[in-house]
Amino acid sequence: MKIFLDTANLDELKKGAAWGVVDGVTTNPSLIAKEGRPMAEQIRMICDIVDGDISAEVVSTETREMVREGRELARIHKNIVVKCPLTRDGIRATKALSGDGIRVNVTLCFSSAQALLAAKAGAYIISPFVGRLDDIGWTGMELIRGITTIYKNYGYKTQVLAASLRSPTHVIDSATAGAAIATMPFKVLDMLFNHPLTDKGLEQFLQDYHKAFQESPVAG
Ligand code: E4P
Repeated sequence: MKIFLDTANLDELKKGAAWGVVDGVTTNPSLIAKEGRPMAEQIRMICDIVDGDISAEVVSTETREMVREGRELARIHKNIVVKCPLTRDGIRATKALSGDGIRVNVTLCFSSAQALLAAKAGAYIISPFVGRLDDIGWTGMELIRGITTIYKNYGYKTQVLAASLRSPTHVIDSATAGAAIATMPFKVLDMLFNHPLTDKGLEQFLQDYHKAFQESPVAG
């Protein structure tokens, strides 16, 4: 499974990229707005940090404008994936942009029916939002399971990107459900490292070694 960071914050992206486990980035208009720079400028800086798919979202709501904006975003860098919302206009824009060879991530997906439409329109990625479904008392992970099954049944190439993930459990459940990609906030990626037995085990190993040799492990 590919791991994407769901942030537009450059410091977080630099830290994540340095770990060597980040395959791409997702952004949305809210995340871009938080960083205070215009979309194109911020996206360009993100492309300099992470070498992988970088999702940049259109802010128009009408097909023709979305297509125009999508083409502009795609020109920023070869790694750009244009994000379109799962609306009627967004699906029409997805079909048009995909026809031009531009990769589209269809976002704000909350049902398998919507995911089916995105695949039929030629989406490169579908983004079902797990956490936001959990927030309204549904089981968001069931959506990931449903979409992966439907896509497998019919051989759709659209990649399932589990979005709106809020915890390591969400990440692991997405992997178990067969999502191609999981995008997560930096805080969640950082949490994936943690296990108390790793800390305890390392402390014991180093203590034993130092006690036996009374020297630092790197000394010759
Ligand atoms: C995905 O591409 C979205 O940007 C994101 O995962 C939304 O997450 P949220 O529901 O935590 O805002």
